[in-house]
Amino acid sequence: MSFRTLEFRDGALTLLDQRKLPSAVEYITVTSARETAQAIKDMVVRGAPAIGCTAAYGLALAALHGEDLAEAADLLRRARPTAVNLAWALERVGRARGAEAMLAEARAIEEEDLASCKSIGRFGAALVPDGAGILTHCNAGGLATAGYGTALGVIRAALESGKKCTVFADETRPWLQGARLTAWELLQDGIPVTLLPDVAAASLLASGRIGCVVVGADRIARNGDTANKIGTYPLALAAHAASVPFFVAAPTSTIDLGTLTGKDIPIEQRGAEEVTHLGKSRVAAEGVQVFNPAFDVTPARYLAAIITERGIARAPYAPGLAALCHH
Ligand code: MRU
Repeated sequence: MSFRTLEFRDGALTLLDQRKLPSAVEYITVTSARETAQAIKDMVVRGAPAIGCTAAYGLALAALHGEDLAEAADLLRRARPTAVNLAWALERVGRARGAEAMLAEARAIEEEDLASCKSIGRFGAALVPDGAGILTHCNAGGLATAGYGTALGVIRAALESGKKCTVFADETRPWLQGARLTAWELLQDGIPVTLLPDVAAASLLASGRIGCVVVGADRIARNGDTANKIGTYPLALAAHAASVPFFVAAPTSTIDLGTLTGKDIPIEQRGAEEVTHLGKSRVAAEGVQVFNPAFDVTPARYLAAIITERGIARAPYAPGLAALCHH
């Protein structure tokens, strides 16, 4: 891959500024937990595993600079509520004793995440039908992880294994992760991709051109209900109606056995301007109220499989996910 989503070097964390893509490739550097939390909140860096890695370094930075660790962890945890990777990474780093050990743990989380993505890719590639279209939503790629990606890892691995697949990406209203990030990331790697408005996904699925859908996840409940970018649930319904398999690709760090069902997953609500404006231009009438949840929950019954770095879970998900987590 031709870019680094995050890199810890010389006592600071450098983040590829995803708000600027694809028109500019710019980096910002953070040196404290507060700056790291703000970067996560502002979506300089986004995607569940990537914000987990980032928060891990944020807490290590707090330790290196003698900040109050409980306060730093709280600030980082509250930056975005839905992706469980954030709390998971903070807990791991928080268990280490001393700043250097915490930094080493953050580095381990980053390295493991990259390895997990490669493994998810290998397991997932076997499920991808040869010669068909693959549809994805949001960005679950190298930009959303330490590298390679989860859903895009499956696509990359399927192509690397010689399968002939055509990639389709939803634009992903309102933040446009598909249009701005997935299209850019795949084209950087020379992978052709066709972009569609989210509202065109159901008719694309009904057309018979799609062999499977593969998406990432922000939190998977014990029963397999999956929170992911808003628009994932309608996509799963449309795939179900068209009898197209719908796969979720995510590391086990995204599975939250402590959350029993999707109803218990906290859903982040984001600002009205994401909906009322396109870029800096207002498109909605002044004074309108806005409903802008950043994520939705897809009930487990619509999933064909959950692909993790340790293997594949299928319904009934509770025993399969528990076994993968305690592996
Ligand atoms: O709001 P975002 O861009 O952080 O949402 C990202 C997603 O929903 C991804 O699909 C998910 O985090 C998985 S990333 C491998």
